[in-house]
Amino acid sequence: MIKKEDIDKIFETVRIEEVVGDYVSLKKRGVNLIGCCPFHNEKTPSFYVSPVKGIYKCFGCGKGGHAVNFIMEHDKLSYPDALRYLAKKYNIEIVEKELTPEESVHQNERESLYVVSSYAQKHFSENLYNTDEGKSVGLGYFKERGLREDIIQKFQLGYSINHRTAFTDIAIATGYKTEYLVKAGLTIEYRNEPEPGAAPQNPPAKAEARYVDRFWGRVMFPIHNQSGRVIGFGGRTLRTDKKTSKYVNSPETDIYHKSNVLYGLFHSKNAISQEKFCFLVEGYMDVIALHQAGVENVVSSSGTALTGGQIKLIQRYTNDIIVSYDGDQAGINAALKGIDLLLEEGMNVKVLSFPDGHDPDSYSKLVTTEELKTFIKDKAQNFISYKAEILTKGTQNDPLKKAAAIVNIVESIALIPEAIYRSVYIKECSRIMDVEEQILLSELNKIRSKKFNEKRNQPTPYSDNGNMEAPPEEPVVETRKEVSVADAEHQERDIIRIMINFGDKMVTIASEDEEGKPIDVEITTAELIIHELQHDAIQLENLVYNSVFNEFVACIEKHQTVPDQKFFINHENIAICSLTVDLLSSPYNLSNWEQHDIFITMEEDVLKKSIYNAIYSLKSRKLEIMIHDNQKRLKEDPPEEELLMLMQTQVQLLQAKKMLNALLGRIVVK
Ligand code: CTP
Ligand code: MN
Repeated sequence: MIKKEDIDKIFETVRIEEVVGDYVSLKKRGVNLIGCCPFHNEKTPSFYVSPVKGIYKCFGCGKGGHAVNFIMEHDKLSYPDALRYLAKKYNIEIVEKELTPEESVHQNERESLYVVSSYAQKHFSENLYNTDEGKSVGLGYFKERGLREDIIQKFQLGYSINHRTAFTDIAIATGYKTEYLVKAGLTIEYRNEPEPGAAPQNPPAKAEARYVDRFWGRVMFPIHNQSGRVIGFGGRTLRTDKKTSKYVNSPETDIYHKSNVLYGLFHSKNAISQEKFCFLVEGYMDVIALHQAGVENVVSSSGTALTGGQIKLIQRYTNDIIVSYDGDQAGINAALKGIDLLLEEGMNVKVLSFPDGHDPDSYSKLVTTEELKTFIKDKAQNFISYKAEILTKGTQNDPLKKAAAIVNIVESIALIPEAIYRSVYIKECSRIMDVEEQILLSELNKIRSKKFNEKRNQPTPYSDNGNMEAPPEEPVVETRKEVSVADAEHQERDIIRIMINFGDKMVTIASEDEEGKPIDVEITTAELIIHELQHDAIQLENLVYNSVFNEFVACIEKHQTVPDQKFFINHENIAICSLTVDLLSSPYNLSNWEQHDIFITMEEDVLKKSIYNAIYSLKSRKLEIMIHDNQKRLKEDPPEEELLMLMQTQVQLLQAKKMLNALLGRIVVK
């Protein structure tokens, strides 16, 4: 367990904009920073970070919190693991209290996978420099491919010894658990069945588990997540025989989800933001070679077909992409598929082909950085001319093949979500293919209406990954939860909102001195509200609001001070913490924080009015609820004596309500 002092230190040290900035490209907007939300798919930024308040808030999906919440949510870590991550990021030494056996069992398993993966990376890197085999074979190979020392270290490249259990043996001897080595995909467990390729035994071997390395005799490419932690590996064989597969990759694990990872993104994200476009290539080596050549805005989907999840990662930084796949048939097919997916996600797609059998890796070695950058920018074609070239190659102007090519291109254009872009590309297609625009447009409409009808007839608006998506062409309609008569949720929330936003602000109220003479007294907003509610014995029904209220009461009683916003933002009760973030970031105007700040200052001026408005509204609501309950009982035909009492109560309640409404009315018109 992490000590309280250390937790406090972490909270004091972390800067929300730096923590979030590791994952999201943020731009300054007034006193806040703004970017595209990492928790939902969006093209216009609605994700705000307030360095002053130390919080983030997405006005699109509603997620919000402080730095620790962000890491918990984003990396799916437990609270202590998120703290450990931040402590490491800021070089804060934490002293962990001894764990009880149960606690250590509950230690986050994902964190253990990160730990063994990081250990493996260090082990493979050390092999490269500290073992004879690593030096001659591994390092020798990288040198032969022309990699510089700084690049080998930047990408943490390594080597796995050519022995079936070299890594697993050392890892276990060092104290790492086999369970995690297996779960991280580094070690393979064989039970019952003999190892593939092993000679059959007679009698069959006992069902004893054996542990062997996944990677052996390969140069190692660690795969990092967006915050730079190692989550998996690709291992390339150095043998040239066709029998060995060229790459062995980590399997899917709890920390490595291939469809949501792009190789190189951690090292490239800043350059992607700066250059305002992303260069997508095929392999590990291409990414690394381009970095060495000075082009750093590059990522690779590494062997898997490009996925929607990967595209969303890119879209956090830019909407412009240049795709470069190999010129062989497999590469062309992958490029064509990728283009359509990218268009569908609303990206601006260009394609870059390298001359005579070169790939980014080999070509980068022929030219200077400047030449390479110019080549990429100048030679990238829009997807239409690329497709036109590919699809009409060798058809010798066969009119039927040309027609098929045109339909194929228009099908791609039809995927683009924005009408204005579709029309621009139709013009371009008309020019390149030399066909009348009108004909293309009617083809486009045919395709789109067919697709629209298909989608409409699909029974479910769910996408493959289980996330709910709005059906096409239909706005998402926000629905409000119906307010039941019997709840004061809204009014209670407003009370807490005022306490958290302005609890320590002083207000002047009229009172009397000991001799009964009228005097002005200054008290804090929190005290005024506490006094008013306790005076009428009002309890907050909502448990979270009530806890916040009680925290105010306790803190004022104990320390004679009003707890500040940080106290609630950093509260160990996650419900209190997220409520606070919501209340601090979204009182009325949800879409614009700058206006919101102006609003806050305005509200301070009229603070007293707001306080009484909130108090009277709550009291009035509570009265309504009592009246409602009373009426209900009256209708139930109660015994004579109770009836009389109920009727008396009813009269009193109605009178009180009238009085309160009069008070409320005065506040409103004032
Ligand atoms: N790949 C893979 N498994 C294979 C072949 C390829 O996972 N059997 C993936 C790797 O991520 C590789 C990418 O596909 O980086 C591109 O393949 P390729 O161009 O063959 O590899 P390079 O990384 O370019 O390797 P090299 O230049 O060393 O041949
Ligand atoms: Mn290559």
